Amino acid sequence: MLDRLDPQAPDALLALIRLYAADSRSDKIDLGVGVYRTEDGDTPVFAAIKAAEQRLVDEQDSKSYLGPEGDMGFVNALMPYIFGGDPTRGGRITGMQTPGGTGAVRLALALAQKAGVKRIHMGVPSWPNHAQILADLGLELVPFNHANTDGSANLDAVLGAINGAGDDAAVLLHACCHNPTGIDYTADQWDAIAEAFADSGTFPIIDSAYQGLGQGLEEDAAGLRAVLAKVPEAFIAYSCDKNFGQYRDRVGAFYVLAQDKAALDTAFSNANALARACWSMPPDHGGAAVRIILRDPDLTKLWVAELDQMRARMRQVRDALANAGTAGRIDLVPLGTQNGLFAMLPVFKDEVAALRDDHGIYMAGSGRINIAGLTQGNLPKFIAALASVAV
Ligand code: LMR
Repeated sequence: MLDRLDPQAPDALLALIRLYAADSRSDKIDLGVGVYRTEDGDTPVFAAIKAAEQRLVDEQDSKSYLGPEGDMGFVNALMPYIFGGDPTRGGRITGMQTPGGTGAVRLALALAQKAGVKRIHMGVPSWPNHAQILADLGLELVPFNHANTDGSANLDAVLGAINGAGDDAAVLLHACCHNPTGIDYTADQWDAIAEAFADSGTFPIIDSAYQGLGQGLEEDAAGLRAVLAKVPEAFIAYSCDKNFGQYRDRVGAFYVLAQDKAALDTAFSNANALARACWSMPPDHGGAAVRIILRDPDLTKLWVAELDQMRARMRQVRDALANAGTAGRIDLVPLGTQNGLFAMLPVFKDEVAALRDDHGIYMAGSGRINIAGLTQGNLPKFIAALASVAV
């Protein structure tokens, strides 16, 4: 039977982790997979998480099952941060825990499909796994251009997608820190997007994987909230893997905004059934640590301070890149106004390969770099290497 399977290429982004690890050059630079790194190149466990985990070890009295919805204390504690004041919108929003943001995206798309959605309109480029999940579910991806060549977001394209989608389609948007471009919609653009969703009746699915890594916790949620204020129904996929540094513990949540409580209950009876058939119950540990932090004012303060520090460091790197002006033919100035972990460089595949082979600089084949992989120490080398290959 196994002879009938075709071999699959490894996930290109995750494959970079191994390639980088196998490179023995001491001055190699990892700009591949999206993890935050300090000025020393480390990805430490947050101090707030360490403290919460200690408390969990001391106080947890059972590891018995919780059910497909996971830890609702965690799910509810996050809601004010995501949705702001009146986080349930009068009982119209609730959520469930998922294995990472990927689990939340998967659940959102599978539930949309169950509700009759056949096509997903999505700005490209996007996080490669969005397309992989769509393909796996058998949903059609209808792409539109996310960005203009000048480094701004293409508002006409997203409005066209929303207005023309139809009722058997949904539009998938990134809430903030767009992966891979770093190009977010402005507040005015979000208002126009919200109006378009309201007028067209198109269903919004919003993926929020980087809240707090762009402009701030509140600022990074403003676009999502502008849409939710105008529409009767929406799905939100959320990840704590980046903003709590919980990558391998897989901490995510899936939220639904529905017209009323009855519709919300029906949606969740379906979401629970999908989750049960897929992963049964989400892993508990990371979500429990987030719950402990968010219920404790001192730990919350510590977490917010750690997040602020990450954001400030990435802003510093972006400013340094923008101040460099150009590297070869690459204009680095727009990177200064973009957000989050990622930016796209207009480099060709052979230039990406030359950066890796000749300089030990690892980035995604698409030209995406992880801003947090750059430090004051390795920036000069990166800019010089880029200038030498992208002539
Ligand atoms: C990334 O885009 O690098 C991250 O979201 C990690 C992942 O799962 O792909």
